[in-house]
Amino acid sequence: MYLSRFLSIHALWVTVSSVMQHYPSVWGHYDVCKTQIYTEEGKIWDYMACQPEATDMTKYLKVKLDPPDITCGDPPETFCAMGNPYMCNNECDASTPELAHPPELMFDFEGRHPSTFWQSATWKEYPKPLQVNITLSWSKTIELTDNIVITFESGRPDQMILEKSLDYGRTWQPYQYYATDCLDAFHMDPKSVKDLSQHTILEIICTEEYSTGYMTNSKIIHFEIKDRFAFFAGPRLRNMASLYGQLDTTKKLKDFFTITDLRIRLLRPATGEIFVDEQHLARYFYAISDIKVYGRCKCNLHATVCVFDNNKLSCECEHNTTGPDCGKCKKNYQGRPWSPGSYLPIPKGTANTCIPSISSIGNCECFGHSKRCSYIELLNTVICVSCKHNTRGQHCELCRLGYFRNASAQLDDENVCIANVCDNEFLHCQNGGTCHNNVKCQCPAGYTGILCEKLRCEEAGSCSSDSGHGARAQGSLTLLVALLGITGPRLF
Ligand SMILES: *[C@@H]1O[C@H](CO)[C@@H](O)[C@H](O)[C@H]1NC(C)=O
Ligand SMILES: *[C@@H]1O[C@H](CO)[C@@H](O)[C@H](O)[C@H]1NC(C)=O
Ligand SMILES: *[C@@H]1O[C@H](CO)[C@@H](O)[C@H](O)[C@H]1NC(C)=O
Repeated sequence: MYLSRFLSIHALWVTVSSVMQHYPSVWGHYDVCKTQIYTEEGKIWDYMACQPEATDMTKYLKVKLDPPDITCGDPPETFCAMGNPYMCNNECDASTPELAHPPELMFDFEGRHPSTFWQSATWKEYPKPLQVNITLSWSKTIELTDNIVITFESGRPDQMILEKSLDYGRTWQPYQYYATDCLDAFHMDPKSVKDLSQHTILEIICTEEYSTGYMTNSKIIHFEIKDRFAFFAGPRLRNMASLYGQLDTTKKLKDFFTITDLRIRLLRPATGEIFVDEQHLARYFYAISDIKVYGRCKCNLHATVCVFDNNKLSCECEHNTTGPDCGKCKKNYQGRPWSPGSYLPIPKGTANTCIPSISSIGNCECFGHSKRCSYIELLNTVICVSCKHNTRGQHCELCRLGYFRNASAQLDDENVCIANVCDNEFLHCQNGGTCHNNVKCQCPAGYTGILCEKLRCEEAGSCSSDSGHGARAQGSLTLLVALLGITGPRLF
């Protein structure tokens, strides 16, 4: 069952999110992709690395529950009051709005009293495990910028795994394990994010911090993004330059904070005691009132605007890039390989714009012998790649080794370079023949063959045995050399 809860049809993110306000504002906003600057040559565009504002990403997700019928109330059932396990006459009824607890209530406006929440069916089938997967999908890569916060209305689960996907739900990796007893539940030593360091920041840990039973007051579970950022940016995230520098250079680190989907795997509800009270199984269920996910569209530092159109997020790409994540160069802008923008140097970063392909400027640049060009950073120049028709050179304007310029063809002619027969350096005409326009040996009387290697009498079958042998041996050797020379399509 897919429950779409897309509130807006087309949302432009131009608001300043609450998350960004925690960050220092002097540098590193990356909120413009280009500005016009005035130079001696007039107005020109200056391009910068840029990214969309961080925002509340729960507005753009789809939620899916497994098992699909795990939400309480169909058929109606009673459950025990939160905080009072012996008052068991509360009712969940999916067909009565005031008594229903559908999944979208995890993402609605909070601050209402009483709070609204999703609730699962109760643990009627104990000891069969009560397990629920809540999958949140964005169909878009997003970068997390703040803690994921899950607020329970019930007690926090005894066992839970937060998982993430980076490939639209095809594969999943654990993000964090949560348990009252990590060793017992997952055979892992309990750890807190504060036990990690810059070097172990990518470690997947099991934490007992958020699973303290049924009756405690705290209802919140975090996945700590900011504590992880702080290993690079300092305790109050003052040195974001250092964090951005790391994100720029360490793909694994960047990927760690990047997701397309999240999955909350609820594995065992809060029991608060060692034994489950089998007389009152209506005490045990999951209920979640709120899930917060803050982040931004991943646009590879090539866009500040992410649009939500047709229930789909996509970057409005600048810098002549394209794709949902601005992950490639536009057609005709493939003059050098695509690369993401860079946060460095602070504060403007580097745009790494896509540059026009030379073949799009005009075919005569490669004389029609190549459709691909490559930008050579070192030489700041564009060269034709894979010149065809036996040509070579920056503009495919030269002939390959073993091929010669056809004097009667234009530079853009397919026949401009022809396999030849002879020249005065490598392939000599034999027996006193002379090379004519590289295409023909003009043989003296009495000789014939491509390189004048044959005696005419041999062709006619009228030679004396003596002269015939010698000429034949020399002829085959020359032909071999000729073949070797012709077949080596090497570049100079
Ligand atoms: C939840 O998802 C995991 C994979 O992430 C799967 O192995 C498990 O069977 C699912 N559980 C339920 C109740 O659907
Ligand atoms: C993208 O291409 C257009 C058209 O050639 C050009 O005007 C614009 O400046 C380019 N933008 C960037 C960032 O290179
Ligand atoms: C040289 O080019 C002309 C013009 O395309 C062509 O007609 C001729 O066949 C070419 N010569 C050879 C030897 O291929």
